[in-house]
Amino acid sequence: MKNATPPSVTSRRKFLKNTGTLAAASALAGVAVPSVYAAGSEEIRVALIGCGGRGTGAAKDALNTDGPIKLVAMADVSKDRLEHSWGDINGGRPGKVDVPAHQRFVGLEAYKGAMDVLKPGDIAIFATPLAFRWVHFRYAIEKGLNVFMEKPLTADGPTSKRMLELGEEADKKKLKVGVGLMSRHSRHLEELAKRVHDGEIGDIILMRGYRMHGPIGYFASEPKPDGISDFMYQIQRFHSFLWAGGGCFSDFNIHIIDHLCWMKNAWPVEARAVGGRHYKTNSKGIAYVDQNFDSYGVEYTFADGTKFNFDGRCMEGCADVYQSFLHGSKGSGIASKGGDCGAPSSLYKDQSLQAASMTWESKPKNDRGPYQNEWDDLVDAIRKDKPYSEVKRGVEASLVTSMGRAAAHTGQVITFDGFLNSDHEYARGLDTLTAPDSPAPLKPDEKGRYPIPEPGKKKDREY
Ligand SMILES: NC(=O)c1ccc[n+]([C@@H]2O[C@H](COP(=O)([O-])OP(=O)(O)OC[C@H]3O[C@@H](n4cnc5c(N)ncnc54)[C@H](O)[C@@H]3O)[C@@H](O)[C@H]2O)c1
Repeated sequence: MKNATPPSVTSRRKFLKNTGTLAAASALAGVAVPSVYAAGSEEIRVALIGCGGRGTGAAKDALNTDGPIKLVAMADVSKDRLEHSWGDINGGRPGKVDVPAHQRFVGLEAYKGAMDVLKPGDIAIFATPLAFRWVHFRYAIEKGLNVFMEKPLTADGPTSKRMLELGEEADKKKLKVGVGLMSRHSRHLEELAKRVHDGEIGDIILMRGYRMHGPIGYFASEPKPDGISDFMYQIQRFHSFLWAGGGCFSDFNIHIIDHLCWMKNAWPVEARAVGGRHYKTNSKGIAYVDQNFDSYGVEYTFADGTKFNFDGRCMEGCADVYQSFLHGSKGSGIASKGGDCGAPSSLYKDQSLQAASMTWESKPKNDRGPYQNEWDDLVDAIRKDKPYSEVKRGVEASLVTSMGRAAAHTGQVITFDGFLNSDHEYARGLDTLTAPDSPAPLKPDEKGRYPIPEPGKKKDREY
């Protein structure tokens, strides 16, 4: 994919300073991993790190790929989540799950135990909140592991640079890395992208994306209860906290932002946005303490002046819409009919988006669905030893999403380069926070309230 503004990356020397120790440096300097699966016949072993809803789904998709493959290790900060996930994956998959108790690891350093079970060329799945991506990815590179990591990859500039550097280190070792932006593996969107890039609706002049529905996940959080550390509370409720998950904006909206930028074949150069916290108390009138706005309206601008409007909302009782649209000089299109990348996609001879004007509708053959396709594509690349890295694209999609969020939170125009080069790292030294009662990256006030965005007042920081 062509970049509107190719991200500048830090020097290797600065990277090593940023990411840690001499030990990491010497480990990363290793030679390429031998293509142990090139023959397509050897068993690939998989470790799951982050055994929640998505991690469990990703592990099942991994085990549904062609060829011998087995889940052998699991890690989570919660024993309950891990055991529940293990039971779920194990059922109905005879011979594909072999995770004895001593290969199930619990805690903030559990990731190391799970990856230590693997050998070079195996696959580590990262499905924790995004804050831990660079910590886990760095360790996987040291161990010579292929990786599947969930979106988003970053929430701030410094970790975006770090992930770009780590992506380059992984490339040098010929590691294969998939990123869970599954729109990119939707066969429907692949067909649409080809037609749009071939000029079937002329030049794109406007794109529109919407994800507007009621509150879901940890969109809102009440004050921390007793019996859990602040750190673990923020990790558990990662949609609520910008350092942990990029907030609801990044977590919920990245797919539509990513696939519309794919259609345009560029990343926006700047974003301006509005947003606010309208209803931020629960039914008993207790104030929520998360950092999210409940509505966001972002205008992205590409280098050629094209606009892309994205609206996100988590609010009851409003008109719901969860779709994406393209408008070109010779017609229009629906990218996602419903959801993150809901099929079919379609094209229209005018701007009406009505059935009577439809000129094409996607009907791909042999489609196993985007979540399975992304795994089929990754494992195929591993077995055939084909170059495969989605890290740069995944970081750029994460960065562009964060730009929109930061524009709403600060009330300022946020550029791609400006956000990438910002020095505000939201969870500094996260790799050193290895105990559940470690000091949390976000400090509450005496009433248990965390700092929130205040557009126009806090201009160079989101909070
Ligand atoms: N591609 C998609 O469509 C999609 C869908 C859902 C979620 N996701 C992404 O997957 C990730 C996880 O989301 P989820 O919905 O599964 O959340 P979840 O809360 O269900 O699962 C996260 C799991 O990670 C564990 N965890 C947290 N920090 C950890 C750490 N440092 N080490 C080990 N385990 C840790 C938690 O205990 C939990 O079990 C997020 O980044 C999310 O954006 C992607």
